[in-house]
Amino acid sequence: MILDVGAVGHGGICIAHAPDGRAVFVRHALPGERVEVTVTEERPSYLRADAVDVLRPSPHRVQPPCPWAGPGRCGGCDWQHVALDEQRQLKATVVADQLRRIAGIDRHVEVEAVPGDAAGLGWRTRIRLAVGPDGVAGLHRHRSHEIEPIGECLIAHPELPVASVVSQRWPDVDGVDLTVSDAETAVGRTWRIPQGGFWQVHPGAPQALADAVAEYADVDASDSCLDLYCGVGLFTAVLAARAPSGRVIGVESSAAAAAAARSNLADLGNVTIHTGRVDRWLVRAKPRADVVVLDPPRKGAGRAVVDGIAATAARRVVHVACDPSALARDISLLSDHGYRLEAMRAFDLFPMTAHVECVALLVNGSR
Ligand SMILES: C[S@@+](CC[C@H](N)C(=O)[O-])C[C@H]1O[C@@H](n2cnc3c(N)ncnc32)[C@H](O)[C@@H]1O
Repeated sequence: MILDVGAVGHGGICIAHAPDGRAVFVRHALPGERVEVTVTEERPSYLRADAVDVLRPSPHRVQPPCPWAGPGRCGGCDWQHVALDEQRQLKATVVADQLRRIAGIDRHVEVEAVPGDAAGLGWRTRIRLAVGPDGVAGLHRHRSHEIEPIGECLIAHPELPVASVVSQRWPDVDGVDLTVSDAETAVGRTWRIPQGGFWQVHPGAPQALADAVAEYADVDASDSCLDLYCGVGLFTAVLAARAPSGRVIGVESSAAAAAAARSNLADLGNVTIHTGRVDRWLVRAKPRADVVVLDPPRKGAGRAVVDGIAATAARRVVHVACDPSALARDISLLSDHGYRLEAMRAFDLFPMTAHVECVALLVNGSR
């Protein structure tokens, strides 16, 4: 099929329409392009397709820096064929779109580069290489369990020995995890992170997010603060330093991460870390708070957690989110409790991919 490509959509695709009217979610294309596509998935109401030939290119199209990116190849990146500034424009459009459709909010969004990230390459401080039955390590193809053999990964941090790992055979293992452990400093601290525990992968991300959270939380010295989904305690540390005569409670479901948070923040006398699920803890503890920070996993907080946050009567809620549609849903739920979106920043923590991180400030109109 030859298609005229329309707007960017959520998830690294652009939207076109097949002659029969069905939406086509096209990868490896850009808005405004005319492309020849191969259909990769057919459903009654939509198709997925890869652009395999570009008949009318966008001015924002570039030669992908990675030779393993492209239709049917490595699925790790979505926007290798797009100039970096335009990648950020596309992500801003997606965030603004989700806010408008799901939360009914019209807002101009800018996606900021992480300070010091000029090329969008070499940022990934952690990577899992998949290993096939033949013992060859590589990266998964898009929406597939098949493995694309690679020679290198250009978004991987230069200290990760990807080239060396993929040049060897790995019999009887499913994958090889690589981590740059000395990247784990932020907010003037060195962090201990348990194996498998959460930590942002871009080396500049923890500091960039911590600065945004500090600005939006605007904590007073005696404030009571909650850091929900606190991981190993990054934002807990930010809040605790600003509320020396207040209290900060972190809540985290992973026992290993919660233990690491306790050890990472052992010098801070105003911090308590609870191990447990946020939804259950909010129901049980019925906390009051001045400021709530939440950084949930991809699916967002959801209604029960939002109800619990609203019951704290916090004057400020700072929501850190890696999925703009889940964020928009949570913003909408919070607005039912009288919170309005006051400010938002978005960061390009995952260049070359379609992922984007947002930090939203919601304020309680009645406080
Ligand atoms: C996106 S990470 C945020 C971690 C931390 N804020 C940071 O920046 O490093 C989400 C964290 O929430 C934890 N988590 C996931 N579901 C949870 C739940 N229902 N209750 C509490 N914590 C949860 C995960 O273990 C993970 O550490």
